[in-house]
Amino acid sequence: ASKEADRLIEMHKIASNFYHHLLLNTVEGENALSYLKKRGFSRDLIEKYGIGWSLPNWDSLSLLLQRNGFGLEEAEKAGLVILRENGDGAFDRFRGRVMFPLHDDHGKVIGFSGRIIDDQDEPKYLNSPETPIFNKGKLLYNLHRARVPIRKNGKIILFEGFMDVIAASKSGIEHAVATMGTSLTPAHIGKIKRLANHVVVSTDGDSAGWEAAKRYSEMLKNEGLQTDIAVLPEGLDPDEYINKFGPEDFAEKIIGKPHSFLAFIMMYARRNKNFKFENDLLQYIHEVLEHLVGQSSPVERDLYIRQLSEETKISEEAILQQFRKME
Ligand code: CTP
Ligand code: MN
Ligand code: MN
Ligand code: MN
Ligand code: MN
Repeated sequence: ASKEADRLIEMHKIASNFYHHLLLNTVEGENALSYLKKRGFSRDLIEKYGIGWSLPNWDSLSLLLQRNGFGLEEAEKAGLVILRENGDGAFDRFRGRVMFPLHDDHGKVIGFSGRIIDDQDEPKYLNSPETPIFNKGKLLYNLHRARVPIRKNGKIILFEGFMDVIAASKSGIEHAVATMGTSLTPAHIGKIKRLANHVVVSTDGDSAGWEAAKRYSEMLKNEGLQTDIAVLPEGLDPDEYINKFGPEDFAEKIIGKPHSFLAFIMMYARRNKNFKFENDLLQYIHEVLEHLVGQSSPVERDLYIRQLSEETKISEEAILQQFRKME
């Protein structure tokens, strides 16, 4: 790494130690600590993931970095402070947020995501900006910890948020990573491919999560990766599911029983459709057949056409005829 990168990383080290200390050992961190406890974070989890708290003050970190010999301009380059437009000093980017350090593939802190703890009129998460060391589109949260467990399991669990990765570790699931939101890039896929050829996608049980699951699994399949989808009940994300039904249940019933791509596509196509309406029914059959064409083995074809027929009460013969026309 360059000299500049080294200094940016050094600043992140100072910042993450500072935030972590404030959360665990100070009166100022007590609110955030009880917020985390309420969400099911033990002290061990807070330690393991290096979670912290940024003071609501304007310049606590700016001052600390300067005391450690760093200039405000390089602190701004690190994404940790924001220079005032009038040229009069700087203020901390992260103020009054629970701080989640983001690591590079080797385990060095290169950025943060900060979460609000009460309903403020602000975005729920504030992330580091793009910097010479941090690129959101390349980062897979937890990759440095998950590498060995992924190799051991022969597969990787892919979530849409780091909260889900942390919660899943309560289920003993250590081979998990997350994108920073619902966008998967070629850079992410490249990293995944180097570690495993089997991915279990587990996104949130809401519309954004379903869309992400479809997009992610199509991209992963196109890259030749075996892809299954662990589907969450409507309205729950993995973290919420674990807090509601327990970590064992999550490992057993959700991650342990993922759906094949085609089974997922049937669930996806059926979502928001009502078979009382002819159009919905026909559209459903069409969507599923589109995915069956060209992709499936004869056995899969038989299986899913039979299932389609059972679900829709249309004869297997008629569905098969339509399928042949689409081939
Ligand atoms: N995200 C973000 N900014 C937001 C909302 C989401 O950057 N305002 C990203 C974060 O990386 C987050 C991911 O999208 O981890 C998933 O979003 P969401 O499901 O809304 O967050 P959760 O992980 O469920 O967080 P929480 O449980 O704290 O609400
Ligand atoms: Mn510690
Ligand atoms: Mn979500
Ligand atoms: Mn979520
Ligand atoms: Mn959540």
